[in-house]
Amino acid sequence: MSNKDDWFIDWFNSKYYHILYKSRNKNEANDFIKNIISNLSLNSNETVLDLGCGNGRHSISLSKHFKLVDGIDISSENITLAKKNKIENLKFFISDMRNFDTKTKYGYIFNLFTSFGYFKKNEDNINVLKKCNNHLKKDGLLFIDFLNSEKIKMTINGLKETINFDGIEFNIHKKIVDNYVVKTIEIVDGDLTFNFQEKVQLFKIEDFKEMLGISGFELLSSFGDYQMNPYDLNSNRLILCAKKLAND
Ligand SMILES: C[S@@+](CC[C@H](N)C(=O)[O-])C[C@H]1O[C@@H](n2cnc3c(N)ncnc32)[C@H](O)[C@@H]1O
Repeated sequence: MSNKDDWFIDWFNSKYYHILYKSRNKNEANDFIKNIISNLSLNSNETVLDLGCGNGRHSISLSKHFKLVDGIDISSENITLAKKNKIENLKFFISDMRNFDTKTKYGYIFNLFTSFGYFKKNEDNINVLKKCNNHLKKDGLLFIDFLNSEKIKMTINGLKETINFDGIEFNIHKKIVDNYVVKTIEIVDGDLTFNFQEKVQLFKIEDFKEMLGISGFELLSSFGDYQMNPYDLNSNRLILCAKKLAND
């Protein structure tokens, strides 16, 4: 068992994560990737990185559109699942996004479906962005697909729900604590009960602008959903496209 601050290692390594989020599937990933590429006219000759790739659903889609794709995740379970996809131009690695080195400069880096904001120390978030910056070519682009904290703050505090999937009960409680959205998940699977949590910092677009600026990026555009509609306070998502600034 990892320490409490590293909740993401236990939860994303668990089979129950994939059951609870089974609607977040390859079809959703394919549609989103197609929409990003056409909306921003991305260049298919580029090498790209999927940072926090999970089971590789976006990486697989990216491999159909780009020359080479790397996927990185801290969860060994996720990387094992991802590696079951044998695709020539796609490689997966176990690594921590705060401190990775693939020895490659990418045209685009994707950080998708709320794979950011997990850490206690802000310097860890900045480290992630700086590592992305170091791994991008000149004018390279970073895409971050994050929750919309403005909407979360208005809608979810204290929310309780029970969901049943495949005979397994998920009792979920969401609350806001110290500017983090904390989702506790009690899982009842037959005679067994497990407890997990998700804890994501409620960054606003202004917070991202500041962190991106410190890390050598300029925010180019923002979108509010996977159809790439403009972002507003009621959007389902906060999707950012940031460009690496020249070093001089
Ligand atoms: C919400 S999931 C999203 C996964 C994938 N992007 C998707 O859309 O299916 C977040 C992912 O980030 C990974 N992750 C969490 N902390 C990480 C870290 N420090 N370094 C690398 N990956 C990490 C988790 O293991 C998990 O697979």
